[in-house]
Amino acid sequence: MAERIEVLLSEEEVDKRIQEIGEQISKDYAGKRVHLVCVLKGGSFFMCELAKRITVPVSIDFMSVSSYGGDTKSSGVVKIVKDLDEPLRDKEVIVVEDIVDSGRTLSYLLEMLRDRGPSNVKLCTLLDKPERRVVDVKVDYTGFEIPDEFVVGYGLDYDQKYRNLPYIGVVKFD
Ligand code: IMP
Ligand code: MG
Repeated sequence: MAERIEVLLSEEEVDKRIQEIGEQISKDYAGKRVHLVCVLKGGSFFMCELAKRITVPVSIDFMSVSSYGGDTKSSGVVKIVKDLDEPLRDKEVIVVEDIVDSGRTLSYLLEMLRDRGPSNVKLCTLLDKPERRVVDVKVDYTGFEIPDEFVVGYGLDYDQKYRNLPYIGVVKFD
């Protein structure tokens, strides 16, 4: 089956929106510093671009969790594959994600991070598929709300491919 990618959000649209979110975060956190927590691998491209556009002091850390697959999906329990390097105590944390889909991964992850004593934890996602939500998750900063279609690019993969696309595309099978 041949696969092709249809552009959903162009590189210019994505860049412009990340700039706007960066400005908003800089305003909201004026006089503070922010600690960005990237959820690997998908969130990495977005986090780097976002971090460059934030004007208050920024520190970064990474974690990797296994979502989807096996009983993870039904139980909503997420396994930490790689934990953060630094403690979150008293930090102004913003979790940076590629996409919020069912919300299962994030609701579990946010609860776990909040238990580590940060001053605050907010969620910033490049994409949101609200139609797919199963678990309620409060998103503080959203790049784009998109329809229920499988998307790739800007960190998002299909079978580990297409993460490097500088735009968001929909995978089509002809
Ligand atoms: P959920 O919100 O727990 O259902 O899972 C979100 C995770 O599923 C994301 O971080 C992605 O890794 C993956 N995911 C969900 N929708 C898509 C998509 O359209 N393209 C690529 N990955 C997706
Ligand atoms: Mg992800």
